[in-house]
Amino acid sequence: MTKRVAIIGAGPSGLAQLRAFQSAKEQGAEIPDIVCYEKQDDWGGLWKYSWRTGLDEYGEPVHGSMYRYLWSNGPKEGLEFADYGFEEHFGKPIASFPPRAVLFDYIEGRVKKAGVRDWIKFNHPVRRVEYDDAKGQFRMVVQDQVNDREIIDHVDHVICASGHFSTPNVPEYPGFDSFPGRVLHAHDFRDAVEFKDRNILILGTSYSAEDIGSQCWKYGCKSVTVAHRTAPMGYDWPENWQEVPKLDRMDGHTAHFIDGTSKEIDAIILCTGYQHHFPFMEDALRLRTANRLATADLYKGVAFVANPKLMYLGMQDQWYTFNMFDAQAWWARDVIMGRIALPDEATMRADVDARIANEDAIEDDYGAIRYQGAYTEELMDETDYPGFDVQAANQAFFEWKKNKKKGIMEFRNYGHTSPLTGTLAPPHHTPWKDALDDSKENYLQTG
Ligand SMILES: Cc1cc2nc3c(=O)[nH]c(=O)nc-3n(C[C@H](O)[C@H](O)[C@H](O)COP(=O)(O)OP(=O)(O)OC[C@H]3O[C@@H](n4cnc5c(N)ncnc54)[C@H](O)[C@@H]3O)c2cc1C
Ligand SMILES: NC(=O)c1ccc[n+]([C@@H]2O[C@H](COP(=O)([O-])OP(=O)(O)OC[C@H]3O[C@@H](n4cnc5c(N)ncnc54)[C@H](OP(=O)(O)O)[C@@H]3O)[C@@H](O)[C@H]2O)c1
Repeated sequence: MTKRVAIIGAGPSGLAQLRAFQSAKEQGAEIPDIVCYEKQDDWGGLWKYSWRTGLDEYGEPVHGSMYRYLWSNGPKEGLEFADYGFEEHFGKPIASFPPRAVLFDYIEGRVKKAGVRDWIKFNHPVRRVEYDDAKGQFRMVVQDQVNDREIIDHVDHVICASGHFSTPNVPEYPGFDSFPGRVLHAHDFRDAVEFKDRNILILGTSYSAEDIGSQCWKYGCKSVTVAHRTAPMGYDWPENWQEVPKLDRMDGHTAHFIDGTSKEIDAIILCTGYQHHFPFMEDALRLRTANRLATADLYKGVAFVANPKLMYLGMQDQWYTFNMFDAQAWWARDVIMGRIALPDEATMRADVDARIANEDAIEDDYGAIRYQGAYTEELMDETDYPGFDVQAANQAFFEWKKNKKKGIMEFRNYGHTSPLTGTLAPPHHTPWKDALDDSKENYLQTG
């Protein structure tokens, strides 16, 4: 009997899985029955921009965390699909830090070419996944939003690709309840123009803090104050940007920090990260992990050790993204198709422990990049994924990090070398800080 496989989510990870199965089919292999349930009305995951915040038109939590004017924060040379390069898609070399719409176009280009859209059921959030020991299958409850009907599906494998940057981690600090301005999480941030001429306070020191602060600075906020819980980001910031110690409390508009200093604030943006959140998974199937490179409970970072018929894609913290998801998806496909055998549970647990110990021994970001590059390569080597020069991709990340140190508002003006074609990307026609129009048409203009 043909196996049935359900994929949850049609973001970059879920689409990688669809492309992996389609490529096996293209080569003449007999593949399982595939269905992909996607809760949004289109593919692309986070890269599908939505103006909505809070609940969507069906009362479902909005998935989108991306905002207007978002440009890639890492070089595109670090995420390029090995089977579908940027030059193949755009027909020419393009600059290294594409805005969201350009990356969406690239993601979509590959799956349009592969013709996998018919496998996806849009507006179908997965509500429940349970494992039936007797049948050896998963029972899924899925909502057909358009017809307001519940669907029950029985499948042999579940690939969970629902992402982990959508359910915000929202701390509370004293005085938030009486702060007279807006307090929002990065997940609900949509347009930096809202904060023009405002004094904003940002909590958190990771990518959202850096990028949302930079967007607000670029679009004319009055000042950016970033409070750190652990350590400051330490870049050479513009003169109206200040890094301060942890927030102690708000008193009206006044933010008090633990070193006794204070600042008048108009709006607070919580760039405090996200939760791995799988409310639809029954207890025994739910992944519980910190946001790290070596996830808990996933053999090879993919197969859920307690029940490896369930796999999770893209659950790591991410330097590598699209190409790592591909490596995982090709590997998951080959496990399902019997091309890769899984070891016993004790060996899988030992693999998880070893990955965690190796990550714990990493000394700095350069080590973390090498670690995730090596992980991606390890998986690629086990399948027929075309592969790419991981050392060259690492190199792009290293140069990017150095450029950020040199000028945090300038790093997007540099080009990096493609690990696929060896082409050095041209610089963008306009420096990032002056490029207020981030449309695809404008970005792709040359000269
Ligand atoms: C603000 C922001 C900016 C980022 N910028 C970059 C960047 O510049 N470069 C980069 O490489 N990475 C970036 N990332 C990282 C991002 O995680 C990846 O690029 C990528 O989107 C992850 O793909 P994914 O498919 O794993 O998850 P997602 O893109 O989150 O897609 C998951 C999909 O699953 C669907 N889904 C969720 N729950 C259900 C359910 N119950 N039923 C059915 N469907 C469901 C969602 O609707 C969504 O379509 C950024 C992340 C954020 C939050
Ligand atoms: N342009 C872009 O491409 C772009 C823009 C934004 C985000 N992203 C992506 O989005 C993903 C998520 O990034 P993220 O920055 O949102 O999350 P993150 O990397 O998980 O960082 C969370 C931050 O929140 C802080 N924090 C957590 N709880 C806190 C609390 N109670 N009080 C104060 N600070 C607290 C953490 O501080 P500690 O260090 O003290 O723990 C950390 O600095 C990344 O993959 C990133 O690349 C990309």
